[in-house]
Amino acid sequence: MRQLLPHPGEIDPAEAYAAIRPRPAGRPWVAALMAASADGAATVGGRSGPLGGEGDRAVFRAVRAVADAVVVGAGTVRDEDYGPVRSPEQTAARRVAAGQEPHPRLVVVSGRLHLNPGQRLFAETDGTTPPPLVVHPPSTPAEARRRIEAVAELVELPAAVGRGVDPHALVAELGRRHLGVVVVEGGPSLNGVLVAADVVDELCLTLDPMVVGGSAPRIAHAPGEPEARRWTTAHLMEQDGVLFWRLVRDRRA
Ligand SMILES: NC(=O)c1ccc[n+]([C@@H]2O[C@H](COP(=O)([O-])OP(=O)(O)OC[C@H]3O[C@@H](n4cnc5c(N)ncnc54)[C@H](OP(=O)(O)O)[C@@H]3O)[C@@H](O)[C@H]2O)c1
Repeated sequence: MRQLLPHPGEIDPAEAYAAIRPRPAGRPWVAALMAASADGAATVGGRSGPLGGEGDRAVFRAVRAVADAVVVGAGTVRDEDYGPVRSPEQTAARRVAAGQEPHPRLVVVSGRLHLNPGQRLFAETDGTTPPPLVVHPPSTPAEARRRIEAVAELVELPAAVGRGVDPHALVAELGRRHLGVVVVEGGPSLNGVLVAADVVDELCLTLDPMVVGGSAPRIAHAPGEPEARRWTTAHLMEQDGVLFWRLVRDRRA
């Protein structure tokens, strides 16, 4: 992979994404990991798969390697048939040597708990890792809770006004669990909630040189007006014409 900014040259993605991520007070560092087409689509044919290619898979592994938790919305779990989050053997050994858990904890955010208990992320467990943590608001129906509590650790969190889990309550809960770096893998609805609450510190964005048109969602969407906030480029890399852009929220006054 080739780095374009800040200094041109060859770079290993594992090295590029092993950045220092200072933990904000009372919550983890939150990094969003997403892929988009050049015209901003987060899906092609209802999936993210066609976006990003080989370089994206390398970046995906590099970002997951630094994660204490991988957080994902229920829509993405359903649409992308999520499986358990497991580090490759060498990565797991490196993590343990650095004082981390061998694998990131998988956290699913859901309102209705329309999740299949037989889905891979629940069913394909090897007994060495804790079950996924599934967080939901108080309004979640009791029957749905009963179906999922056998295969996951269920945690009820306060709701944002008239909506799902309060994003501040979510990050505070992850902080209480000593999860220092949280990687949010989407989808666009969960990202939109987190961006609106301004709790996203980093965006790892793959930009595929593809123009797709159509009605696909952007990488983050939520009701209400967009808000202009300051972000800075930490690096920009390239492989096979695909761009890998790492941006960090600039919280200086
Ligand atoms: N380009 C990429 O990198 C990328 C990455 C991920 C996903 N995607 C694509 O995005 C599409 C899915 O989009 P999406 O917006 O539906 O995904 P999503 O954000 O993963 O899922 C939305 C669902 O997540 C739950 N949710 C989100 N915020 C919540 C909150 N604050 N409290 C409680 N529950 C909350 C709700 O689940 P319930 O319905 O259970 O209440 C909601 O219906 C798929 O096509 C997927 O392939 C693309």
